Amino acid sequence: MMILFSTILEQDDEVIISDPHYACYPNFIRFFGGKPICVPVFEDEGFQYTPAAIREMIRPCTKAILINSPSNPTGNLLSRERMEEIASFGVPVISDEIYHGLVYGEAEHSILEFTDNAFVLNGFSNAYAMTGWRLGYLRFSYANSLENIREGMNRLESYLKEIR
Ligand SMILES: Cc1ncc(COP(=O)(O)O)c(C=O)c1O
Repeated sequence: MMILFSTILEQDDEVIISDPHYACYPNFIRFFGGKPICVPVFEDEGFQYTPAAIREMIRPCTKAILINSPSNPTGNLLSRERMEEIASFGVPVISDEIYHGLVYGEAEHSILEFTDNAFVLNGFSNAYAMTGWRLGYLRFSYANSLENIREGMNRLESYLKEIR
């Protein structure tokens, strides 16, 4: 996730996230000069992250919409229809799919079923109980992003050297 944000974010770029969210998201966004923009989700609505509420927050400086389904901490699962609608906004979607493989009964969906304009994050911590390993991976469209990802990795390396 750090590599990704180092790649796509410029000062004051906005990233839409749900509230509540995985606690690290705002810190990672701010570390690279970005602004987390929260869309509240409510218990009496099953913590649904609604496309209409997301759309209201989209501005020219919106760099990405971050989704996390199944979600930490709410456990909410985004339906196919909601994912499809979020994908249709044309804003890159960062989909944290780290809880895929841990859904029972309902169908889980990947954002890649609906758009290539997306970055998918996943890892081994939760599905394989390998939290100590800190192993993860990023899927993205090769043609559009490989050079940017390389630049992002260099940028992240220089930030980390600075704060060491
Ligand atoms: C939503 C979410 N994303 C990402 C992570 C990061 O996983 P890790 O750094 O353990 O690979 C976690 C960890 O629990 C999480 O809950």
